Amino acid sequence: MYRIGQEEIDAVARAINSKDFFKINGSGQEVLHFENEWKSFVGSDYALLMTSGYAAIVSALIGIGAGPGDEVIVPAYTYIATALAVLETGAIPVIADADETLTIDVEDVKRKITKNTKAIIPVHIQGFPSDMDGLKNAVKGTNIKIVEDACQSAGGMYKGRLLGSIGDAGTYSFNYFKIITAGEGGAVVTNDRKIYERALIYHDAGAVAFFGDQLNGISEELFGGREYRVSDITGAILREQLKKLPYIRADLKKNQKLLLSLLTPKYTQAPSHDFEGDLGTTVALRFGSEKETRSFAERCAANGIGVTIPFDTGKHVYTNWTQIMEKRGALNPSMDPYKFPVNKDLQMDYTHDMCKKTLELLSRTAYILVNPDWPEETVKDIAARVLDI
Ligand SMILES: Cc1ncc(COP(=O)(O)O)c(C=O)c1O
Repeated sequence: MYRIGQEEIDAVARAINSKDFFKINGSGQEVLHFENEWKSFVGSDYALLMTSGYAAIVSALIGIGAGPGDEVIVPAYTYIATALAVLETGAIPVIADADETLTIDVEDVKRKITKNTKAIIPVHIQGFPSDMDGLKNAVKGTNIKIVEDACQSAGGMYKGRLLGSIGDAGTYSFNYFKIITAGEGGAVVTNDRKIYERALIYHDAGAVAFFGDQLNGISEELFGGREYRVSDITGAILREQLKKLPYIRADLKKNQKLLLSLLTPKYTQAPSHDFEGDLGTTVALRFGSEKETRSFAERCAANGIGVTIPFDTGKHVYTNWTQIMEKRGALNPSMDPYKFPVNKDLQMDYTHDMCKKTLELLSRTAYILVNPDWPEETVKDIAARVLDI
């Protein structure tokens, strides 16, 4: 969460005062307006707003037809929700290493592709874009789909295109910790009519065939899904947040670039697949060893500067994905994809050292998290304190 205030309060009041803030048939139609505004911003043909980034990833995977018998490749460094979303479809998450940028390693993806691979989920972690050209080349001539997890990177870019708009579908989170927020929320975007129709049916299973004219022009057959619908209150907040997003991005980027320019004579910046495009939420420094990184972080802390070592970020690191590592995909064994007979030959031999390169890179990286509201003097003060350790 970066900037939220009176505009969002007024928008919530507008939605409540309408006395009609159910998504469909409402007088305000805030969700529908947000979906239109979000798809124009991202540059996609379709957008759906829903309850969470997790819901968005699941709905997009259902949209591409993922299910039991399928493998979906996810990076070893992402929030656990990415992998859990795969399980909700009945498919099995296959874990691939991260590259030097800490996004999914295309070479490892190539090694892990099998005849069962249905999709790859590149995660643009901390606003850093994945190697989308490399991934597109890796799946060229196959039926493998790319579902982008842009949950941490709404507004970030890769080679001039908004993250989330490059794969077959893109997904976003608007939870409290994200670039723009309604406390909770998520979205799917796609240019593919079939993916859109299936995600529409899946994310609003109880109401899609009852309220409004949502099924007008829909040719996909109805099927059972989930209730991931949101109210116009969420839509109203996000419409205001979207207006602020370009300014948040510009200020993040300005502060990130200034901080880096002051630090890089002494420290090494971690590589990026598109430095101009990355969102600017994070200054990522790379060290020669874990010891050096930890010593840097400790000395920064002693000088009043908070530093995060991504190795320490809990459920963002595959070794801490208990439910995945221990293959407990559901409470009821009959609903657990790890126990489905159709999945028995899929790649699911998870071990703690299966992505050693990722662990090593995570332990040699230090993040300084950027705030778009820092004045220039604050950025200079932070740089001076880091250089002074
Ligand atoms: C990379 C990534 N993917 C997915 C999610 C899930 O988003 P949500 O919390 O909105 O379900 C998150 C949220 O933390 C995330 O960071």
